[in-house]
Amino acid sequence: MTLPARDGRRGQSRAKAPARAPRAKGPAKPAALPSPAAADREGPLRDALLALRRSHEELKQAQLQLIQAAKLESIGRLAAGVAHEVKNPLAIIRAGTDYLLHAMPQEQSETRTVIEDIQNAVARANNVIGGLLDFAASTALTTAVEGLNDVIEASLRLVQHALTREHIVLVRELADDLPPLMLDRTKIEQVFVNLFINAIDAMQAGGTLTVRTSRHQLTAHERDVGARHTDPFRIGQTVVVAEVDDDGTGISDGHLTRVFDPFFTTKQAGKGTGLGLAVCKSIVALHGGTLSIENRTQGGARARVLFKSVRNA
Ligand SMILES: Nc1ncnc2c1ncn2[C@@H]1O[C@H](COP(=O)(O)OP(=O)(O)O)[C@@H](O)[C@H]1O
Ligand SMILES: [Mg+2]
Repeated sequence: MTLPARDGRRGQSRAKAPARAPRAKGPAKPAALPSPAAADREGPLRDALLALRRSHEELKQAQLQLIQAAKLESIGRLAAGVAHEVKNPLAIIRAGTDYLLHAMPQEQSETRTVIEDIQNAVARANNVIGGLLDFAASTALTTAVEGLNDVIEASLRLVQHALTREHIVLVRELADDLPPLMLDRTKIEQVFVNLFINAIDAMQAGGTLTVRTSRHQLTAHERDVGARHTDPFRIGQTVVVAEVDDDGTGISDGHLTRVFDPFFTTKQAGKGTGLGLAVCKSIVALHGGTLSIENRTQGGARARVLFKSVRNA
């Protein structure tokens, strides 16, 4: 019963087909709403256009990053040159103010305050210059066999005052079975001091700083973190890990990818140089290790330093 009726409709539409053609050309019927069939055809085209736009955008970003990297390199070289020039005059100012403070009677407290302000300003300038020089420093390391816990303890002593001042509780979870490492002690101390200070800065309202060390066999995930380095890790290899945990502000998603960029800082001028993590990363990389930073699920941030053990390397 239904078949003939369908045939009949088909017959009708065939018969009307020529009449539709001129109507399509008519100016009164704009193609505002494309038919579902047309939309089907446009779908893939639209997707392709979107993909093209996206890759164009990515290409533009990559180009900008390259330009930025080239600029940074020349800025780095220029900055190191300037830093060398400024270092000596600053040292003279520092020595001069030390002498004045020493020679001045205690009663002249107002003048003493002015001199102390000068000293603080010099210290801040020295900080920036130190950062710039580290950043541009040569790649030479002076390594010796060291215990990581010892190096960490020495670094903690350097920030003890800041920890007390900011009412930060220190928790040590240091493993006692760590294999010795080949480290440039001064540079690794510098890394930990930087990480501790970042953690302290993120805990303005007090908090807990946890320093943890452990040894374990490298996992595939950790190996991939180090994959960008020329000296890759092997799964199963013994690694020594140090973690610096804080329960401070944490790092916003947008900033997480930028914290290792030289000169990236969220701190006010005079407090942050944005060079700390960039320097730390290159020092750790020079040791054949990796440095990563992430947010903790409990809040706050975790910096993780991973070294290869020399014993079974
Ligand atoms: N533990 C941390 N908690 C929150 N933010 C952090 C932490 N460590 C680093 N950051 C963020 O990374 C930025 C870059 O750090 P860094 O390179 O050490 O430079 P600086 O400390 O001079 O700002 C900081 O300004 C801060 O925004
Ligand atoms: Mg820092």
